[in-house]
Amino acid sequence: MNEFNIIGLIDKKIKGKSFDNDEINWIINNIYSIPDFQLSAWVTAVFIKGLDKKETAELTRAMAYSGHVLTLKRHEEDYDSNNPETAVSNRGFVDKHSTGGVGDKVSLVLSPVLAALGFKVSKFSGGSLGYTGGTVDKLMSIPGFRLDLDIKEFEAQIKDLGIAIASQTEDFAPADKKIYALRDKTATVESIPLIASSVMSKKIAAGADTILIDLKCGSGAFMKDKSSAKALRKQILSIADELKLDVKVLISNMDQPLGYAVGNALEVQEAIEILDGKLKNDTYDLVIELASQLVPKSEVIDVIESGKAAVKFDEWISAQNGDLKKFKETYSNIPNETYIATDDAYMKSMSCEMIGNIANNLALKEDGTKDYSAGIIFHKKLGDSVKKGEKIFSVYANAEKELIDNAIAQVLESVYFSHSKVSSPKLFN
Ligand code: URA
Repeated sequence: MNEFNIIGLIDKKIKGKSFDNDEINWIINNIYSIPDFQLSAWVTAVFIKGLDKKETAELTRAMAYSGHVLTLKRHEEDYDSNNPETAVSNRGFVDKHSTGGVGDKVSLVLSPVLAALGFKVSKFSGGSLGYTGGTVDKLMSIPGFRLDLDIKEFEAQIKDLGIAIASQTEDFAPADKKIYALRDKTATVESIPLIASSVMSKKIAAGADTILIDLKCGSGAFMKDKSSAKALRKQILSIADELKLDVKVLISNMDQPLGYAVGNALEVQEAIEILDGKLKNDTYDLVIELASQLVPKSEVIDVIESGKAAVKFDEWISAQNGDLKKFKETYSNIPNETYIATDDAYMKSMSCEMIGNIANNLALKEDGTKDYSAGIIFHKKLGDSVKKGEKIFSVYANAEKELIDNAIAQVLESVYFSHSKVSSPKLFN
């Protein structure tokens, strides 16, 4: 491979020129020897001048192959072309990814739904990023649940059960991890080609056949408006096209938390209610819509109504050592306070980002550990009418009343009311 020098490559992007594949690969291959200050300058030049379609695809590919790339094996014994029963026993490997939201417990519901439908769900999840929540933290609220599966255990569980979710390790797309850490410290996160390549590189490394992306748009998402969400979708689909990947992208609203719960254990409780067929809210609608990208909607509804998805959830949690009985006992009586409406009004809008921050801060204990019981339950959603004396939201935490009251005041500052009727945001655009 050609030798380049980093100063020349920074200068090239500052002048608005495009990199060829060798130049991008040189950067990624030398990522640990380029000093952080020069790599940051390169990232900043890319942030300002952008990357074209070809550059973005090559950066994605190079970051994906900077570490371990999982080659998920289709287990031939799963197939028997003469047996219609086995025809749906492996419909391919699926990985679902959210670009990050508040109250986003979709993976907890969608993954067992897809596994019960015969897909192999292979997912490496991250912890919370900024004000967003992470699937890893939600699952950690379940006593005993193991996220540190090694590759062998991970693959065996997918083969036997059709579902495994583990925490992201250093092995996958390490170049993205390095670049992401610098972006986080240099105000260069919110770049469409950089977000698209970051998300997709990790998905490619995880080896799925089909990648389902839930692209969040609104005040609680990195993409705050529809035009940037659409631009990110276009960028992701263009990477998929260049790299011949089967990717489906759905844009969903994030102007308010998804569902009624924000907070780790509270969100797991909401997910269980949906899987048990007891709750049909916006989280349910989003799960149905995402799964319907792959199979007819009636099949998705049926797998929940029949209880098959709930059984799959229980099997999955116990396969990873989680104890659902203990989970129910642990969180059956979390201290909480409720804010009651003092007037008739409508829920007009909220800073969803602030809600995410309040919930994350509430969960962070002084000793640095997490209170997984902490969070917020919304009894009302945007557009709802609120009558004097009705519950609007409750704050939960294993903490002193003062801390809970403090969070109540903060949530109240983040929610806006109106005396005239307002419409509720559409979940899909
Ligand atoms: N999530 C990622 O994985 N990468 C980004 O750049 C932004 C969100």
